[in-house]
Amino acid sequence: MKDIYSKTTVNINGEILDAENAKISIFDRGFLFGDSIYEVSYTTKRNILFYEEHMDRLFNSAKLLNMNIFIDRDKLTQEILKTLKASNLDDGYFRLIITRGESEISLNPNLSTHNNFVIMVKPRPSYSNELYIKGIDLLLSNVIRNPKNATDPNAKSGNYLNNVMAIAEAKKKGYSDAIMVNGNGQLTEGTTFNFWIIKGNQVLTPMSDNGLLMGITRHKVLELKNIDDLEMKEAELFPKDIFEADEMFITSSTRGVMPISKILTNDGLKEFQSFEKTNRVANAYGQLVENYLAESKYKY
Ligand code: PDD
Repeated sequence: MKDIYSKTTVNINGEILDAENAKISIFDRGFLFGDSIYEVSYTTKRNILFYEEHMDRLFNSAKLLNMNIFIDRDKLTQEILKTLKASNLDDGYFRLIITRGESEISLNPNLSTHNNFVIMVKPRPSYSNELYIKGIDLLLSNVIRNPKNATDPNAKSGNYLNNVMAIAEAKKKGYSDAIMVNGNGQLTEGTTFNFWIIKGNQVLTPMSDNGLLMGITRHKVLELKNIDDLEMKEAELFPKDIFEADEMFITSSTRGVMPISKILTNDGLKEFQSFEKTNRVANAYGQLVENYLAESKYKY
């Protein structure tokens, strides 16, 4: 625990605080109801990756949850840069959380008239090389991803209990993480990542309509459109497609492109032997990140 504190730089509402003493009110709606939104990105050599995209998504999450943001976007940018600078990290992870502020204990969102914001910066997590060589093992969870007309999964909110339950089920069964279907049995996403199925030269990811967070990494891979003969696109996918897949991989800001080694489903285990096409996607994405960082406007 001590270690987490000593490695984290915190900014609460504009004030850089010692992490151990950084506190939010017990009346904050983020604490009471998960009534908050957040973004995560990382920096390389003091450049922020896909900053504008993350801020666009943050404001879209607020819109989806009818959350007023009383803080100016430029002010948030200054505060993020200030916190990154204070961390003195060249390669950092940052998390920006905005809550609907404090109110009396009532679900009524109109009782809140300001936000609280928290920025946490820590060293960028490093995933073992082995995961990129051998892949990550996943469970197809029995926990259903919430439908779009509940808490829309496309809002990156502080309410992750659904995903916590899915990962808990995975851990119980000896798996590292989990992916989920929606109420119609369509594949959606992982607990903190999107995923992809490769069949022949088709590189497919579940449709956004099926209820999932439109990951920025997912978007960037879709934007590549083609890598030689490989074609990236959205598709309606079902668990049976896992068994027809040649390769599968996951995408997220912190993990980039990571192969999947195996998936346990109620219909049996699917194991993947080859990552050749996944590696081609990973290389193309890696190149895109390098090009972006070389021209990044958000430095500290
Ligand atoms: N999670 N789906 C969910 C539910 C996520 O929480 C995330 C990101 C993604 C991938 O989105 P992106 O490519 O923009 O990172 C998909 C971040 C990394 C997190 O919670 O730490």
